[in-house]
Amino acid sequence: KQGGGLNVMISGAPASGKGTQCEMIKDKYNLVHISAGDLLRAEVAADTDYGKRAKEFMNQGKLVPDDVVVSMVKQRLQLPDVCEAGWLLDGYPRSLSQAQALEALKIRPQLFILLEVPEDVLIERVVGRRLDPVTGKIYHLKYFPPEDPEVAARLIQRSDDTEKKAMERLRTYHENLASVLSVYESCIKTVDGNRPKSEVFGDISSFLDDHIKAATKVSKPK
Ligand code: AP5
Repeated sequence: KQGGGLNVMISGAPASGKGTQCEMIKDKYNLVHISAGDLLRAEVAADTDYGKRAKEFMNQGKLVPDDVVVSMVKQRLQLPDVCEAGWLLDGYPRSLSQAQALEALKIRPQLFILLEVPEDVLIERVVGRRLDPVTGKIYHLKYFPPEDPEVAARLIQRSDDTEKKAMERLRTYHENLASVLSVYESCIKTVDGNRPKSEVFGDISSFLDDHIKAATKVSKPK
């Protein structure tokens, strides 16, 4: 495994494949995967104060207020495992104020991966997505159905994975995208996410590998 100390953000519309790619990236590069959506869903499931506040916004496809999300992500980023291994931040920042909160702490990515997928494909991915509540793995009824019938029988669907809610999530995404990109202009790598997942991962890996190679050269001059 490689990638120690690497800090990566991954962004893209709802169902563009962020979670799917993160599963592969964290395995190859040994980074700590921090998904803002997963952290929020865990708070909702545990019925915490954060979860109680977040629920209504998530159900409407809106951004959860900063006082919940920013502190939650900041806390997670400061745990020792993250400092040691490096991080892979998924679904954060989603607004200018969230990006600024990290900038204020000098928390910056070396690479900002942006997945691009056409809107009609996103909707098909949203409605067909299923999750395994035991392993957390992401499936799709058409594209990636599980082979094991036991897993197939226990799959669940996210409550915000309807076409209507996905359209609202998409609207929120487009409202905020330009301002987030303006903060990370110098390290954005755009990837065509409308291809088989191994091909998408191939592109992401080569960006990460190139970065690691360049960083190694700088730290070990001949
Ligand atoms: P979050 O959980 O982050 O949802 P999202 O951004 O809408 O992204 P998704 O999880 O829907 O999709 P994904 O890109 O991970 O795609 P996946 O890999 O699963 O956020 C949920 C909510 O939480 C937000 O609406 C908001 O309310 C709140 N929230 C989160 N972060 C916040 C923040 N920072 N601030 C405020 N609020 C926040 O793939 C999708 C499907 O496609 C799967 O079925 C998969 O199998 C399939 N698939 C993936 N790749 C491919 C491929 N290459 N080919 C074919 N199918 C594919």
